[in-house]
Amino acid sequence: MMEALPLPDTRRFVLDMINQGNPHFVATVADQVVGWCDISRHFFPAHRHRGSLAMGIIPAYRGRGLGKRLLLAALNQARASGFIRVELSVHADNTRAMALYEKIGFIREGVQRRSVLIDGRFIDAVNMALMLDEQ
Ligand SMILES: CC(C)(COP(=O)(O)OP(=O)(O)OC[C@H]1O[C@@H](n2cnc3c(N)ncnc32)[C@H](O)[C@@H]1OP(=O)(O)O)[C@@H](O)C(=O)NCCC(=O)NCCS
Repeated sequence: MMEALPLPDTRRFVLDMINQGNPHFVATVADQVVGWCDISRHFFPAHRHRGSLAMGIIPAYRGRGLGKRLLLAALNQARASGFIRVELSVHADNTRAMALYEKIGFIREGVQRRSVLIDGRFIDAVNMALMLDEQ
């Protein structure tokens, strides 16, 4: 995604996450949301031990420890909710995000070559995963 979804769509997504009991944390500064981390449980019964993680901090608040705190909060709830595997995909040039994920224990599992096309440039994506029962 290059832009946020329209507010009603975002609201529906967040309420759906809450109703499903999925981890969904936000960081706020003076009542404004400045970052989030969520983990969506997979749908099919054979995949229900898995969750996909997404997160982001608005630029002015990056590099202050918020990402790490949000990530740990979401993973703690995921563990308590019985998730076994948390996975994500990160652009191969996103060294900050990969450093954070590896610090927490995520392992690189593979590379999706030319995963995204942004401004005429292909970027690979790295698949990473964390096994919560091996922590
Ligand atoms: C990736 C992102 C979520 C990290 O959140 P953050 O609040 O900036 O990160 P933190 O301040 O918690 O730092 C956590 C770790 O990231 C790494 N890190 C932080 N800033 C860094 C930098 N400028 N360069 C490299 N690594 C960096 C460090 O390992 C750091 O751990 P440390 O403080 O113990 O050394 C945030 O930068 C972001 O929103 N980026 C744009 C969106 C994005 O990439 N989302 C993830 C897509 S998969």
